[in-house]
Amino acid sequence: MPASKVKNYRPETRLVHAGTLRSQFGETSEALFLTQGYIYGSAEECEQRFAGKIPGFVYSRYSNPTMDMFEKRMAALEGAEAARSTATGMAAVTTALMGLVKAGDHVVAAKALFGSCRWVVEEWLGRFGVTSTLVNGTNLDEWKKATQKNTKAFFMETPTNPTLEVYDIAAVAEIAHNAGAKLVVDNVFATPLYQSPLALGADCVVYSATKHIDGQGRCLGGVILASEKFIMDHVHQVIRQTGPSLSPFNAWIMLKALETLSVRVQRQTETAGAVSDALAGHKKISRLIYPGRSDHPQAATIAKQMRAGSTLVAFEVKGGKQGAFRFLNGLSLIGITNNLGDAKSLVTHPTTTTHQRLTPEQRAELGIGDGLIRFSAGLEHADDVIEDLLAALDKV
Ligand SMILES: Cc1ncc(COP(=O)(O)O)c(C=O)c1O
Repeated sequence: MPASKVKNYRPETRLVHAGTLRSQFGETSEALFLTQGYIYGSAEECEQRFAGKIPGFVYSRYSNPTMDMFEKRMAALEGAEAARSTATGMAAVTTALMGLVKAGDHVVAAKALFGSCRWVVEEWLGRFGVTSTLVNGTNLDEWKKATQKNTKAFFMETPTNPTLEVYDIAAVAEIAHNAGAKLVVDNVFATPLYQSPLALGADCVVYSATKHIDGQGRCLGGVILASEKFIMDHVHQVIRQTGPSLSPFNAWIMLKALETLSVRVQRQTETAGAVSDALAGHKKISRLIYPGRSDHPQAATIAKQMRAGSTLVAFEVKGGKQGAFRFLNGLSLIGITNNLGDAKSLVTHPTTTTHQRLTPEQRAELGIGDGLIRFSAGLEHADDVIEDLLAALDKV
């Protein structure tokens, strides 16, 4: 479907139609082009396509019709000019950040990052001579004060994993731009349906497509979305030459999964809301965080920049690690995992999984107590999920 036509449709319609490329057979469902390369009609055509002088696919490390359909559908949903798909969410984060910096540059990021993202900022970029400052993402003064002459990138995830803090994207984008830096936002917890960082002033959005986009726990994937200029200046060559690429097979899974994204996320959000209502104030829980509740610490920012709450709920079970483990082991329907955004409801104990690498002091600073649980709503009946959670809490 041409981009000019897609613009007029609502997100649910774009999720089903945008980016579709039909072959000569006129198939209804998008085809899987499981091919590494392409045959050219002549040596001259090959030369010209390779040099980018005429359009066409060249090599599936960086261009393939199925990847292209997924990228165009994501771009239409996000309101981005361009997109590039990657093998994982971490490949998207690493490519976007490394494409912005060189030795001697500086990055400012919020402290509350998914464990691997924090490792990339602090450890991996550091090995190439890129320094970083981590700030409290809710404190705009800290973002401002952390800025240096050599700051090239700002990075945040919002809502954060796992404590669901929400940062003011427009305000941080302004600080980044005043410093001559670009803002990259990891939007995985909001999904493209609930928050549009580019429209709020961010320069680049990254997703782990592994989460809600696949939504059925099958494939890993990632995507980077930005203006055409940003992609060409900072992303295109990194992907083309270093190859963190998505496989066409996984691109096809993600593409077809997008068709049901809005239905799944809406249902999961309703369940997450019902779970937060059922658990708030429970005698075995000391704290509950849900972006759809008026008692969320950043409720004003949420009202300003998000269209709905979240498919995730975080809560602190009393009794620290022992209490959390009794609760986890008391579940019968909901699975214990480190993943999220699946059709199956899942729970995670961040202290012993996703945030294990941090010291107890670093976790305490982020509000990740030993009793903290991250709940990801699936597609089961909400009452079955709530009954399972309440029965497990009885065992604490
Ligand atoms: C906020 C966030 N960013 C990035 C990632 C990395 O995604 P992936 O596992 O697809 O590499 C994850 C999850 O694992 C995540 O929760």
